[in-house]
Amino acid sequence: MKLIIAVVKPFRLEAVREALTAVGAEGMTISEVKGFGRQKGQTEVYRGAEYQVNFVPKIKLEVAVSDELADKVVQTIASTAATGKIGDGKIFVLTIEQAVRIRTGETGAAAL
Ligand SMILES: Nc1ncnc2c1ncn2[C@@H]1O[C@H](COP(=O)(O)OP(=O)(O)O)[C@@H](O)[C@H]1O
Ligand SMILES: [Mg+2]
Repeated sequence: MKLIIAVVKPFRLEAVREALTAVGAEGMTISEVKGFGRQKGQTEVYRGAEYQVNFVPKIKLEVAVSDELADKVVQTIASTAATGKIGDGKIFVLTIEQAVRIRTGETGAAAL
């Protein structure tokens, strides 16, 4: 199992959710977050402004999927969230050691 964490532009969330549902992701968790990347939240870099950091609103998605689905989910997020402009976001992929569906006690991929 993989946990795919993606940070995307808020206005792309609905399209990403629809696309992920279409490729078979059965659930997801989202949070409203703020962050910065290489540009430090600046749309332009001014001389002398390199220490100024702006946190920009983003959406963080967390999607737990089977190993088989992971590459497809990453590609789908990447293509759906992309605008080609700076701040399009990042995707991180982590290995999940265990998952439990609390209601039934199912574990592993059956819990997803
Ligand atoms: N190294 C990182 N670690 C954690 N979160 C990051 C990292 N880089 C970027 N992010 C998150 O992704 C968001 C979008 O980053 P982005 O501007 O697209 O990255 P970059 O400028 O490095 O191309 C940031 O606002 C931040 O929330
Ligand atoms: Mg950036």
